[in-house]
Order: sequence, then C-alpha cells, then structure tokens
Amino acid sequence: MTTPVLELHEVSFTYPGGVTALDGFSAGITRGRRTAVLGRNGSGKTTLFSLLNGLKRPQKGVIKLNGEPLRYDRQGLLKLRQAVGMVFQDPDSQLFSACIYEDISFGPLNLGLPEAEIRNRVDKALTQMKLTDVANRPTHALSFGQKKRACIAGVLAMQPHVLILDEPFAGLDPVMAKEFMVVLDQLHQDGTSLIIATHDLDLAYAWADDVIILQDGHLLTQGKASEQLVLPSVHNELGAAPLVAELGRVLALTGTDVYGNGYHPRTGTELVQALIHQSRQEIDP
Ligand SMILES: Nc1ncnc2c1ncn2[C@@H]1O[C@H](COP(=O)(O)OP(=O)(O)OP(=O)(O)O)[C@@H](O)[C@H]1O
Ligand SMILES: [Mg+2]
Repeated sequence: MTTPVLELHEVSFTYPGGVTALDGFSAGITRGRRTAVLGRNGSGKTTLFSLLNGLKRPQKGVIKLNGEPLRYDRQGLLKLRQAVGMVFQDPDSQLFSACIYEDISFGPLNLGLPEAEIRNRVDKALTQMKLTDVANRPTHALSFGQKKRACIAGVLAMQPHVLILDEPFAGLDPVMAKEFMVVLDQLHQDGTSLIIATHDLDLAYAWADDVIILQDGHLLTQGKASEQLVLPSVHNELGAAPLVAELGRVLALTGTDVYGNGYHPRTGTELVQALIHQSRQEIDP
C-alpha cells in the first residue's frame, strides 16, 4: 500500500476557550485523488484543515506529510506550506495586500523564485481565475466571489502538491464554478491531491473519489464516495442524500437497476445515459 500524502493519527484539538473541535481523529488522504470532506456545521472541517496546513498544532496525536511527522519549526512549516496550499473559507482572512496582484505574488516571492518566474505564475493564476482585469484594483473594492477567486489564484501560483479548499464553490456564480471545476480537473490530471470541504452533496458525489465524513469532531466514516454517500447512516447524519444516489435507490425499488454491469452514474447526465442504455437493451437484448 502506498503512503498516504497526509495522515492523522488520534489527533485532538481544543480551542483556548475549551471547545474540543477534534477528538482522537484519525484519517488518511490518498495521493493524487479528489477527497471531499463532509460534516455538519461545527463538526470540525475547518479546524482539520488548519491542522493539515500547520496553522494549528494538535495537543494530542500526530499528523504526517508523505509519511513524515509535521515539524513546527520555521523550516518545517515553510516546507509544509510549499507542499500543501490552503484556501480558507472566508476570503477576508486570507487577503492582506492593497491589491490582489501583490497578494498573489507574495507566496512565490517568499519562495525566492526569479522575477520572470514569479510574473509568469501570477499572470497564469490571474488568467485561470479570470481576474486579470481587476488585478490592480484595491482589494477592499472587490466582490465576495472575486476575493474568493483571488485566494484560489494565490494558492495556484504556489503550485502545491496538495491543495486544500474550504468551501471553494460557496459564493462563485455557476459560470465561474464550472470554469473552476475545469481548473481542478487539470490539477487532478497533473497529479495534485485535491481536498475540498463542501456542504453540496451532489457536488461531492459527482466530483470526489474519496470522502471523509466528520461527526462532532470524530470520524464517522471514510472511503470511496460512491460507496459511502449511498449509506443511510451517512444520509441521516448529513440530513440529505445526493439526488442521483436517491434516484438510483428509488429506481432499484421499482425494478430498474442503474448500477448494473458495475457502472455507477454520478451525475444526472450519467444517470439518464444509464437509463437510455438499459431501455435500448430491453428493446434489442
Ligand atoms: N476560534 C475558535 N474558538 C473557539 N471555538 C472555535 C473556534 N473556531 C471554531 N470553534 C469551534 O470548533 C468546532 C468546530 O468548528 P469548525 O469551524 O472546525 O467546524 P466546520 O465543520 O468547519 O463548520 P462549518 O460547516 O460551519 O464551516 C465548533 O464547535 C466551533 O464552534
Ligand atoms: Mg468550516
């Protein structure tokens, strides 16, 4: 078995006020895969991400990157942040420069890269996130979605091996969300490990290879999205089921097995294709 790119062993984290956000939490992230982290409000997703990025340090337990325990000295944190990029849930807590061009340049500049390389990376990230026109506008004069995209661009410019995104689609319009999905697909093809927190179960079912589901600071379950997101216990905890999974279940009850031949439709389009395929077989077996 290959070493997980990130792993947590019995990790606990309690905030200074006394709230225990994670309690003996263990999970692993497989390299090169798309992982969705799910859980109700306050279940610990953002805390988990801050721990994976070294922003917070667990009081108990061990976190490993590529099999090596995280180091919290300057050198160790620099190495970690180079490998693991993080986009926060709230863009205002991530942007600190007068304009987003400066903000996106900050990371590559800190890596000590040559000027031309920095310019290339920043221009590419601005183009990917459709921000070129507002690159020099004051940061405070941008819309929420533009700020969110600027945070994503800042992390893309670092070219990390692991990209962690906390609710990346919240606040993006449908056109931008689709375009961002294309950017994520490209990163996935290039071998980047992608981790997103989301409350959108349809998106998780369609996009993720793996899921990690938190329940009140504990791991409820982890595994393949196609296997976990059809479980009634998961639906109970999250308060909903992915629509395609639900339709598949109802169709099975009425005698139509859309999961025949090992095919697992993950989107509405795939489900319709599976149904058309089946009806053609019934007409012309
Ligand atoms: N700065 C903080 N100080 C004290 N407690 C905190 C702090 N941040 C979060 N918590 C608490 O830790 C627990 C986990 O919060 P966290 O933000 O990790 O949840 P989440 O799963 O990301 O929720 P959401 O879906 O709302 O984003 C919650 O009980 C929350 O109230
Ligand atoms: Mg959160």
